[in-house]
Amino acid sequence: MSSIPLLRAENGKILPADTPEAFAQSVALAADWLKRGSVVVLPTETVYGLAASAWNERAIEEIYRLKGRPASNPLIVHVSGMEMAKASVNDWPEAADQLARAFWPGPLTLVLPKRSVIPDRVTAGGSTVAVRWPSHPIFQAVLEQCGFPLAAPSANRSNKTSPTAATQVLQSLGENAPWIVDGGPCPVGIESTVVDVAGKVPRVLRAGMISREAIERVLGRSVGTAQSETLAGNEVETLRSPGLMRSHYAPRADLWTGRWKHGKSARIALTGMGLKMEQVAVISHTIIPEGFERVIVLPNDPEAYARGMYAAWHRCDEEGVAAILVEEPPDGQAWEGIWDRLRRASRGRLEGGI
Ligand code: TXA
Ligand code: MG
Repeated sequence: MSSIPLLRAENGKILPADTPEAFAQSVALAADWLKRGSVVVLPTETVYGLAASAWNERAIEEIYRLKGRPASNPLIVHVSGMEMAKASVNDWPEAADQLARAFWPGPLTLVLPKRSVIPDRVTAGGSTVAVRWPSHPIFQAVLEQCGFPLAAPSANRSNKTSPTAATQVLQSLGENAPWIVDGGPCPVGIESTVVDVAGKVPRVLRAGMISREAIERVLGRSVGTAQSETLAGNEVETLRSPGLMRSHYAPRADLWTGRWKHGKSARIALTGMGLKMEQVAVISHTIIPEGFERVIVLPNDPEAYARGMYAAWHRCDEEGVAAILVEEPPDGQAWEGIWDRLRRASRGRLEGGI
């Protein structure tokens, strides 16, 4: 190890990586800690991840403890390429190969039969393992130096909104937060698309910015989804992907969605719930409704919207708002990952031509 990187004065737990020297030092330091079995927070292109060696059971325990995550919810194993992915699984079907070639490195996670080198704790005792080759340069550089795969869930307390910036990690994990390598805002902004390719028919278990249609185009066949299970509110143990539970991604504030022309009836509905307008924040991307004091405008473009969505929710929580009213985005595949998170996070729709 060379010298320790300069720490940001305002926050002793955040390691900068915004110059070539800081990048090299922070990556080396993170890899060193990971080799010793510690947990480190690293940026990925989707959200920040709470990373530890996927081969080290004690380090994996620490991830579950820090997150307050139920032992029944398995972790994603991040790899540095096809070879490391294949070394973590027992089978590499044609569908896995096609999807990995099309979308890796990137925001796609593949669920496959697990190999014994991956401890049962990582997969919550299950026979499959979720693998992903991330594209973020910091995460890739750390993986290269480690030489082993890194298990990493999103770096938030269980059931809270994922962090897309280093400061949000600190807010979520508080004093228990491990060291965080700062990669700036995450360029994708919502979690990866999870596709189960262990069965006969591939299934999208979690929507993301890689759409189901894009996956079907690559595979040349239609794929299933886990939607029927979640929409039925089926939150039982048998659910293949526990992170699909409805409440999983919610901000602290109550989130409602709606479509409006001027916003009058939304105001009436919200005040009818006993809320004052100064306790309500609006997130819109086309029309700013009248009569609201706090408005966050996101771009009317799915990729740019996704990049800013969680940051907007985090900001509402920081400002202590009681309710968030989100202008509903359009339907269609480009928005499906965004709609998925909105549906899970929301208490419902404010109806009535608002
Ligand atoms: O973008 C991402 O996927 C981020 C970054 C850090 O890579 N990670 C992430 O991890 O979102 P986490 O743990 O918050 O969500 C992982 C999801 C959960 O819904 C989990 O239930 C599911 O993947 N999962 C993990 N292993 C699985 C398996 N063997 N079978 C089915 N679902 C699995
Ligand atoms: Mg998560």
